[in-house]
Amino acid sequence: DRIPVDVVAAIQELKQSLNAVILAHYYQDSEIQDVADFIGDSLELSRRAASTDADVIVFAGVHFMAETAKILNPNKLVLLPDLAAGCSLADSCPPDKFAAFKAQYPDHIVISYINCTAEIKALSDIICTSSNAVKIVKQIPPEQGIIFAPDRNLGRYVMQQAEREMVLWQGSCMVHETFSEKKLVQLKVNYPDAEIIAHPECEEAVLQHADFIGSTSALLKYIAQSQRTQFIIATEPGIIHQMQKAQPQKEFIPAPPMNNCACNECPHMRLNTLEKLYLAMKNRTPEITMPEDIRLAALRPMQRMLEMS
Ligand code: 13P
Ligand code: SF4
Repeated sequence: DRIPVDVVAAIQELKQSLNAVILAHYYQDSEIQDVADFIGDSLELSRRAASTDADVIVFAGVHFMAETAKILNPNKLVLLPDLAAGCSLADSCPPDKFAAFKAQYPDHIVISYINCTAEIKALSDIICTSSNAVKIVKQIPPEQGIIFAPDRNLGRYVMQQAEREMVLWQGSCMVHETFSEKKLVQLKVNYPDAEIIAHPECEEAVLQHADFIGSTSALLKYIAQSQRTQFIIATEPGIIHQMQKAQPQKEFIPAPPMNNCACNECPHMRLNTLEKLYLAMKNRTPEITMPEDIRLAALRPMQRMLEMS
């Protein structure tokens, strides 16, 4: 397949001819963010996927996000530029093991973070994202037991914020666990006026140094309203593109990973490229599909989330 010289123009043309919408997460490469019709955090992307009147949804993100769009839109063609764009957090919760875990707590309800497979969603009662997890947990009657899956770091943070015990599945995100507390503290010495802002998927040792904790969109809003001019960003650095666009006079410093590597970049998110995005639209593949029984079972907790948030 030949890639046109002006791939951006070719993508724009395909967008018209397919009546497609391109939804992108903040962790995508800058050039992908720049061709997207909408960029958002997981909750905003789900809402947008639920309300779009496009015929084709091109999801510039990872597999569970495109799958979520398909759960909400069974009759639309949902394309993911690279089907191998998975998620270490979703992978850390295999459905068979989770079903056995859930069976140990028959009186508990299951609240699952949206970063999970359709099979895990189908085993859940309510889905949440990092922007509504606390709000949703606070709505559950106090006597009701809760299993929270799959992210133990978000789970622990929600337990603290909502002042609520939960049984946690011990999953985690490979990206947010690479930040080094020691290096973060050293970096702060060089930038004493910088605010540290972090995603709740980070470990507690990192979160305890944060001046603000929130979803990607919440972090973006925070840097716009803060009086400070320097920020250390403890999440995937793809989001810095929108931060720089929104506040060009401010400085954004990626929080350092433990090793001298680019391992704070999500390798799954970064599998998508502008070229693969173009080819997916041109060839109308790779497409997201799933069995209808799984889709219907996964839709129910998704709808509860949209109602509760
Ligand atoms: P949010 O954009 O909802 O904060 O999610 C972050 C994330 O890790 C997505 O994979
Ligand atoms: Fe999954 Fe973490 Fe990548 Fe988000 S950043 S897609 S949670 S591996």
